[in-house]
Amino acid sequence: MFRSIILRSVLPLLVAAGVVAYFGLPYIDRLLRDWFSTDMQVRARLVMTSLEDALPPLVERDDLAALGNFANKVTLDQRLLGLLICRPDGQLLFETARASAAVSCADTLPIADGRSAVLHSGSGSVLVSMFGQTPRGQPPYRVGIVYDMSFADRRQNTARDYVIAFAGLSAMLLALMLVLAAWLLLRRWANILIRDISGRRFLDDAQSPPLWMPVLRQVRKVLHEMEESQRLEMDYRENWTPQALQLVVREQLHSPKMVVVSNREPYIHDFASDGRITMQVPASGMVTALEPVMRACSGTWVAHGSGSADREVVDRHDRLRVPPEDPSYTLRRVWLTDEEEEGFYYGLSNEGLWPLCHLAYVRPSFREEDWDAYRAVNRKFAEVVVREAGANDPVILIQDYHFAILPGQLRPRRPKATVLLFWHIPWPNAETFGVCPWKSEMLSHMLMADVLGFHTLYHCQNFLSTVDRFIECQIDQERMTVALQGHVCHVNAYPISIEWPPRWAATAPDVGQCRRSVRRRFGIREHVTLGLGVERWDFTKGVIERFHALELLLDQRSQLRGQVTLLQIAAPSRSKLPAYKALQEGTLAEAERINVRFGTADWQPIVLVGQHQPPEQVFELYRAADFCIVNSLHDGMNLVAKEFVAARDDEDGVLILSTFTGASRELLEALLINPFDVTETADAMLRAMQMPREQRQERMRLMRRSVKENNVYRWAGRMLMDAARIRQRQALQNVEAAPLSQRRRMS
Ligand code: F6P
Repeated sequence: MFRSIILRSVLPLLVAAGVVAYFGLPYIDRLLRDWFSTDMQVRARLVMTSLEDALPPLVERDDLAALGNFANKVTLDQRLLGLLICRPDGQLLFETARASAAVSCADTLPIADGRSAVLHSGSGSVLVSMFGQTPRGQPPYRVGIVYDMSFADRRQNTARDYVIAFAGLSAMLLALMLVLAAWLLLRRWANILIRDISGRRFLDDAQSPPLWMPVLRQVRKVLHEMEESQRLEMDYRENWTPQALQLVVREQLHSPKMVVVSNREPYIHDFASDGRITMQVPASGMVTALEPVMRACSGTWVAHGSGSADREVVDRHDRLRVPPEDPSYTLRRVWLTDEEEEGFYYGLSNEGLWPLCHLAYVRPSFREEDWDAYRAVNRKFAEVVVREAGANDPVILIQDYHFAILPGQLRPRRPKATVLLFWHIPWPNAETFGVCPWKSEMLSHMLMADVLGFHTLYHCQNFLSTVDRFIECQIDQERMTVALQGHVCHVNAYPISIEWPPRWAATAPDVGQCRRSVRRRFGIREHVTLGLGVERWDFTKGVIERFHALELLLDQRSQLRGQVTLLQIAAPSRSKLPAYKALQEGTLAEAERINVRFGTADWQPIVLVGQHQPPEQVFELYRAADFCIVNSLHDGMNLVAKEFVAARDDEDGVLILSTFTGASRELLEALLINPFDVTETADAMLRAMQMPREQRQERMRLMRRSVKENNVYRWAGRMLMDAARIRQRQALQNVEAAPLSQRRRMS
């Protein structure tokens, strides 16, 4: 930018100065010469007047000695070189010595009487003024008065030097002023732009002259386009790997301290019935996604230590290195009392916010004491995070609805931290969220994050309209930023995903072997189509609706009885809560009823496994299934759908997927269904059973490509790159805002 100012403004100015000097100097020369010549002519005329009486008798007598004496007296004037007396035909009558060295009578012939001319001789230029004399009875003659003009040459040269120096100096001064003005403008623009990009609207700034606007808009557009193209470049990168993510952390963020915060921990230690300690990876989409990211980036993961044996395995700082087989990051456990867990986790998080954000028609409950516990636990986590993050400028990745107010609690304690909050569940519309009694406090705390991530653009828009409805702030819809109390929060969609290649792919048995072992384990015969459902036992997942769809199918098509079994894995979750208890009981009862209705001695339509399964076994189930059904009533993303696709390196198997999941925006080749429409779901099961191999293969191939390209490293990479851009802008703003003395110290 600065270079272009020099090229576009200063250079033309210097060229203009050159042109002025080039064409102006001859004019100045001529002016000076005319000025000096006129002066000399006047003097010559005066000299001639004083000669007029004395000269004729001497010429008449041809008295050269007297003429010489007389001439010597007259030519005492330093600049008067001498006299010439010539016949009109150029014949010399008399000349003084200095005059003869400069000019001859022949040279004066072109000069008319009473006129002057500048002649150039070897010793410099001279001005010759000729005066005709016609004495009575005598032949006429001409008197030439020769003036030395070399002083005029000298003065001209001096004047020329002055003019050149003056022109050069003026040009330099002008250029300097221009550069200074441009720099000041640039600084002001940069200031305005930075402020504008970061969310505070320039158009609202009453002090800013409207004159700048078109230029600013243009510059802003260019910057925006540059940013977009950089973003696209990263977006379309196909091979996002742990190494690519590490590169982003190292080169874009300069390896900051990374802290992840979540309620659910990635590894849970429990006492088994025999007193031994077992370790479990929980059934959580959030853990599935974040764990590989932490393996790649390292740092500290702060989470609730919820396992019965969790305290047994930590050090005195409540930390342990994980994963156990190849430790690469630190798990920092936070202990909660039963009361805290009751109000924070079961209460506000899962009886309030979870049903509030999922349109599964379960009424949310809001209790003041839960809100108090929620705030207290968020504060407790804030303390730990602040300690784990250290004093500098960490990157803090907060996960989910359990910690909506954590950004606001961290901001004053770690102003230089880059805080990202990712919301793993859907965000409802403004009217729905409006029922939350503490919506304003929650929203304003969330907005203290630098980046607020959702799975889909739709959720982002819902969030922005919720903020618009309930908070006094400035929203830039185009850039999706919200400015509140001088802080700017960037809202964006980052569809979460899974690691690629999946961890278990390398060690898993081939698909045929998986089919055989799973069928053996669950008593499903070879010819029976195996449908699979895997999830936490949650009312948002549509488990009972799925059973009803199968029932409808078997009802309508009796020939399918004995031909299809749904293997349902339901990992118990939040079982203390009445809604979950009722769901578990309802699910068991419905499975039982349907099995009794259609089952035979060697076939059951539903095999319900109400237990958590370790991830490697779930991987085996995915590989064994003929179809996988994900009919969530509402789901932020749903990673089961992506895991199923990732497990099928044989490019077989059919995915039935609810349109109310974030995953349905990406996995378009699945059989998309409305989970509330039981008939449509039953039809999809039938289509899955009847789909030809080539079609299954084609669909699976396309879905696998999508999951591979949009893997979890890309999810984290995009978020962290946005964080890096924000950090760069903030650094710039800080430099601009710092007083001069401080800036010097900084540099
Ligand atoms: O995937 C969404 C999510 O809410 C996670 O954030 C959470 O860890 C998971 O579901 C399981 O829920 P919970 O941790 O309550 O068992």
